[in-house]
Amino acid sequence: MGMRITVVGTGHVGLVTCASLAALGHDVVGTDADGEKIAQLERGVSPFYEPGLEELLREGMASGSLRFTSDVSEAVPGAEIVFISVGTPPKADGEANLIAVERVAREVARHATEGTVVVEKSTVPAGTGGRMQRALSQESPHRLEVACNPEFLAEGRAIEDSLRPPRILVGAESERAFAALRRLYAPLIADGSRLIETDIQTAELAKYVCNAFLALKISFVNAVARVCELAGADVVDVAEVMGSDPRIGPSFLAAGLGYGGSCFPKDLQAFERLVQRLGYDFPILGEIARINDECVEATLAKVKDAVWNLEGKRVALLGLAFKPGTDDVRFAPALALARRLLDEGARVVGYDPRAMGNAKAEVPELEMATDAYDAAAGADCAVLCTEWEEFARLDLEKVKASLTAPIVIDGRNLFDPAAMQAAGMTLYPTGRPPVVA
Ligand code: UDX
Repeated sequence: MGMRITVVGTGHVGLVTCASLAALGHDVVGTDADGEKIAQLERGVSPFYEPGLEELLREGMASGSLRFTSDVSEAVPGAEIVFISVGTPPKADGEANLIAVERVAREVARHATEGTVVVEKSTVPAGTGGRMQRALSQESPHRLEVACNPEFLAEGRAIEDSLRPPRILVGAESERAFAALRRLYAPLIADGSRLIETDIQTAELAKYVCNAFLALKISFVNAVARVCELAGADVVDVAEVMGSDPRIGPSFLAAGLGYGGSCFPKDLQAFERLVQRLGYDFPILGEIARINDECVEATLAKVKDAVWNLEGKRVALLGLAFKPGTDDVRFAPALALARRLLDEGARVVGYDPRAMGNAKAEVPELEMATDAYDAAAGADCAVLCTEWEEFARLDLEKVKASLTAPIVIDGRNLFDPAAMQAAGMTLYPTGRPPVVA
């Protein structure tokens, strides 16, 4: 039997939660204060691109297991579980701003019925659960339970990640809350997902720790890339050696322009502030972000090395999204690079299969091209910023003919140096020996 579920906040995490819980057979109501977004969802249109999401939303709505409303007072009564998945944007000092979480928790409490489990889905600092429990009891005469069930989904793979998660983390204080979430995820657990149950603050903390550790892996390999460039070694081979040790593992060891997106930069900062507030000195956390910023600077230095002065030069950026498979440009290294190039007087032309609209909104001075060849046309060099599949299949002869000089800077180590050499191109990869035409 499906459970009655409400999801408050239909951003990336909230909407994927709605779609996947409806697909598991639950009766789901999604709600958001943004009436326009709700109207769009009711027409079966997703406000952002995520592979498979729109199909799943439409299926859920067609079968009657999923609906949307902008009215929390209508969405919450009768729900067994209410997920809070509203934004936790950074404050000026990097700490997570929990004002929306508190406001929604209080509003939910005013409409919730006896025994409802209120679940933190947004990434929140350790200690939030306790505060939430107090806010709920101030607002409601009923006994409401708090739980923390962090989302580990990665954009571009979000549906797959939520329907086949390697692990499900639930933090709670009462058997009743654990039981409700066990029932919710029973189909996934039966399918082999590992359920990990902890107390609330452990679950809250574990989510930050996972993101910080993944970002650390990326920054570690990016620092190794700098060392490889100085030593004349190849970071791709070094990463292969590292990754073949099961204690290290091969993932998140791709050197390049560094990480971006809506999670790593923000969560890392928030985790740093949390640790500081708790009184522990953990300087590695600051280094992760510093090395990440260095990746953009190192790529900029290669552009300068390739074209000499930037004033009046035209630079093509291939890929603008923070990673392939998404139209998301939040904290995209490509846009950080675009801003640095523009500051130094270059003209910057970008192309991305999905993210051009969002990129233009963030960096209006960025010129947009119709495809990679159009971006390269008349450019003094091209920089590969996002490793979209279609860029791996580019006709290198055609790219070469479009550029004024046959120079490619590979910020994601997508191009095969031997193929570049055969095409007579100069290639500056990341952490690997350059190929000089
Ligand atoms: C991430 C986490 O993976 C997810 O568990 C968490 O819930 C939210 O944050 P996401 O931001 O969608 O998900 O993207 P992810 O695929 O993890 O990539 C993050 C960034 O790291 C991207 O900019 C990507 O290009 C970069 N990256 C990743 C590297 O630079 N090198 C790598 O080896 C892997």
